Amino acid sequence: MEKNIITLAIETSCDETSCAVLRGGREVLSNVISSQIEIHRKFGGVVPEVASRKHIESINSIIQQALDEAKIGFSDVDIVGVTRGPGLVGALLVGISSAKAIAYGLNVPLVGVNHIEGHICANYITHSDLKPPFTCLVVSGGHTYLVQANSYTDYEMIGRTRDDAAGEAFDKVARSLGLPYPGGPLIDKMSYEGNRKAIDFPRPCLDEKGYDFSFSGLKTAVLNYLNHAKQMGEEIVVEDVAASFQQAAIEVLVEKSIKLALERKSKTIVLAGGVAANTGLRNLLESRGKEEGIEIKYPSTILCTDNAAMIGSAAYFNYIDGFTSNFDLNVEPNLELGVK
Ligand code: KG4
Ligand code: ZN
Repeated sequence: MEKNIITLAIETSCDETSCAVLRGGREVLSNVISSQIEIHRKFGGVVPEVASRKHIESINSIIQQALDEAKIGFSDVDIVGVTRGPGLVGALLVGISSAKAIAYGLNVPLVGVNHIEGHICANYITHSDLKPPFTCLVVSGGHTYLVQANSYTDYEMIGRTRDDAAGEAFDKVARSLGLPYPGGPLIDKMSYEGNRKAIDFPRPCLDEKGYDFSFSGLKTAVLNYLNHAKQMGEEIVVEDVAASFQQAAIEVLVEKSIKLALERKSKTIVLAGGVAANTGLRNLLESRGKEEGIEIKYPSTILCTDNAAMIGSAAYFNYIDGFTSNFDLNVEPNLELGVK
């Protein structure tokens, strides 16, 4: 593989404006991330139009910062990678337009990248020895997928959520407990102070044969528990609710992942996406992995949530496998994994 290829990568699919520079598929020279979380927090979630407007304001300076930190100039860039979907239309358009302008101006290849593939590729950066095939659990704010990675660019979708994504369920439950957006990290933290066996919340799909997930019923069970307790004037121990909810959610995620890995004879399960930062999920998966002789890998925490370095890694592997884009590249808000 051509290890010295310099990739400039751009990610603007949701509420992070990010630009990174990579050498090869695994070495990060810079990864600048400008988060809009503070702006969206007061609305309790991401407001799409506000996100687009913030991206357009900051994208040029973020790109320049990424080049400066990597100590390179535009003329050193060999390929330009950019998230083409899934994500928010207006937000994605900002990144794609910038990437096109740069690739066109420099006369270098443009590589449109699937955001979910990017989340998986974050693991190639953290683990320099990681190679496909492996089983992968993608758990982010917008997506929950069980995937079999057959090669660096061939991802087979096996299971998905039928309703809410895992991160979405964490955020909604957190909101019902009066915690600010995004609530996932706070539930994680709070779980250590609560009893995870205090409330017996349902484990949706756990006993079903397939690999799909569902989190909306679990979220409703938490809301019903809270409403009932309030009506009855019973004390609500927020830490117990957080810990019991988290335990129910992660048990389903872990058991389905282990089941798929055993079926496909995978020696490794890889975690990806924002919820891969959840320490309860990591710990439970590691202990179950140990029992089954399966190695568990996850990205460093900064590479779990949205960032351009992961997009750069995916762009590099796609370029190597011959998947480049034309200048009519468009946003794909509902892009499926595995679609080139
Ligand atoms: O991957 P990501 O940055 O965004 C999407 O592409 O959707 O993931 C953000 C999601 C949010 O829902 C956030 O609450 C969740 O990841 N998250 C966590 C933790 N850290 C971030 N959820 C549970 N535990 C965490 N430690
Ligand atoms: Zn993401």
